[in-house]
Amino acid sequence: SPTPSVAVSEAPTLDDLRDRAAGCTACELYEGTTGTVFGTGPATARLMFVGEQPGDQEDRQLSPFVGPAGKLLDDALVEAGIAREDAYVTNAVKHFSFRRQGNRRIHQTPKVGHVRACRPWLDGELALVRPHVVVTLGATAGKALLGSSFRITGERGTAREWEGTTLVPTIHPSAILRADPARGQDGDEMREGFVADLRVAAALLG
Ligand code: URA
Repeated sequence: SPTPSVAVSEAPTLDDLRDRAAGCTACELYEGTTGTVFGTGPATARLMFVGEQPGDQEDRQLSPFVGPAGKLLDDALVEAGIAREDAYVTNAVKHFSFRRQGNRRIHQTPKVGHVRACRPWLDGELALVRPHVVVTLGATAGKALLGSSFRITGERGTAREWEGTTLVPTIHPSAILRADPARGQDGDEMREGFVADLRVAAALLG
């Protein structure tokens, strides 16, 4: 199996785990990227956000949610009364998956195999941070933790027990940025729903 063994006994701190993840070649996504975009935030965080994968800006800066989706997330967190610096923010897949279009790198949804190859890093982060509440952003993160039958519609904004923590799935901020009125999507409404889901998570933190 190409999956690296990253038992927490071998990587006792987040810094150790980050160092190991930096050299990950468990799937081909590392090719043509700046590097591994590991999670950021305090090891003591009670709240963890799990996104899909880094985007172009995140790959350039090697930090999660620092591009347009990150800006939307930041603003929504303020509205929901959550301090981002108190939360741990990471992704299900830690290398940017893209296709080239001229000089541009266009986001490509990671495949199940990429999520699986990257899983030891996410499991390590969960084991070391041990968050009280986990919020999954979008379908990829939801499926990564809840299984392939997970569906955003119907399940988002609803807290459930998961692996000794409470998990609240919500939509991905990029989906709000891409809201298409021609497909009946109202960006303002989606943003309000997103903030409402974040408030569900905030309330669980007490
Ligand atoms: N989208 C994600 O899912 N994660 C990031 O870090 C940035 C954009």
